[in-house]
Amino acid sequence: MLRTPAAVQDAERYTAHNYHPLPVVISSAEGVWLTDVDGRRYLDCLAGYSALNFGHRHPALIAAAHAQLDKLTLTSRAFIHDQFADFCRELAALCGKDLVLPMNTGAEAVETGIKVARKWGYQVKGVPAGQANIVVAEGNFHGRTTTIVSFSTDEDARADFGPYTPGFRIVPYGDLAALAGAIDEHTVAVLLEPIQGEQGVVVPPEGYLPGVRQLCTERNVLFIADEIQSGLGRTGTTFACEQEGVVPDMYLLGKALGGGIVPVSAVAADADVLGVLKPGQHGSTFGGNPLACAVATEVVRLLATGEFQRRSAELGERLHTGLRGLIGKGLVAVRGRGLWAGLDIDPALMSGREACERLMERGVLAKDTHGSTIRLAPPLVITEEEIDHAVTQLAAVLAG
Ligand SMILES: Cc1ncc(COP(=O)(O)O)c(C=O)c1O
Repeated sequence: MLRTPAAVQDAERYTAHNYHPLPVVISSAEGVWLTDVDGRRYLDCLAGYSALNFGHRHPALIAAAHAQLDKLTLTSRAFIHDQFADFCRELAALCGKDLVLPMNTGAEAVETGIKVARKWGYQVKGVPAGQANIVVAEGNFHGRTTTIVSFSTDEDARADFGPYTPGFRIVPYGDLAALAGAIDEHTVAVLLEPIQGEQGVVVPPEGYLPGVRQLCTERNVLFIADEIQSGLGRTGTTFACEQEGVVPDMYLLGKALGGGIVPVSAVAADADVLGVLKPGQHGSTFGGNPLACAVATEVVRLLATGEFQRRSAELGERLHTGLRGLIGKGLVAVRGRGLWAGLDIDPALMSGREACERLMERGVLAKDTHGSTIRLAPPLVITEEEIDHAVTQLAAVLAG
């Protein structure tokens, strides 16, 4: 008898239903492959929403975690520990920034970015007290805290969670004129995803990000790039902004920074920006803990080789070529960069959810978003054969 149906029921019984997972119960994983409680294997084409860029249980990351578990796991920031300096120095170097502020989840990095930008606005730019505004984009996804959902345009994410945090202006994504019109003398930051992941891997028009950079420089506004999902190799470069030759004032990082082992996020910026924070003004008990730093330093070292970025760029070509071949055969559009793709399924054929369920039956795990869109983001250690396998299975699902 299969163990999955009862395990699915058990999992749903004592939890709030804030997710609608596929009915699969995973018990182990290695690289790009997952195994469920019934011993069935699946190719992971989601990679924990890009938290598993290096695959499941990457040997170097697991070794770093094991070694650290045997020595020291938590001190709080009340004391300094011996993993902290290396992590901050190496991540700052990877980002080309002076300083790093480590937190845990992506949403905390975004909250940190917002707080730093506001303080910078009051203390450096000279915005009158309480008047700062931040410009964000329609279709954004930056996390789930009350402040962040205050400027979401997704009603599921936002409705009934008010009263909402003021101080945000929402403009259409990809529209430079609208952005220019929204910035005024009290604007402290523009907060954007260089590619909108949750929205369906939406790539802005060419020239948009350089245009944002220029506007921010001209108007003395911080450009905050939320690279929590797009960064750390996913798009074929360390940061998605790089592909347009853009350097933001602040990077927000998370997901893959923790190597799929521990939650690690960070804000990276120069000293004139992050330097506005003084003791007591911001923090987190677990932020920058020894276990997190040990794993994340190893993540930074993996990225410093450039190997994963190269893989993503090269294999991404193969993935996108394969997917583009399905346009007109069940797909109506394919977007993305590197090993990251948003696919729009012909809604007359099936929903994104249905497609993901059928892919699951064929041993491929992916996740739908916004009705008829599927997101593919396999670990960057995926091989050519495995990419071809995923595309073949998708073609079979679309062919009915
Ligand atoms: C671009 C972006 N920012 C922020 C977040 C929030 O990260 P977390 O779920 O770790 O809070 C996400 C998560 O999907 C994201 O994609």
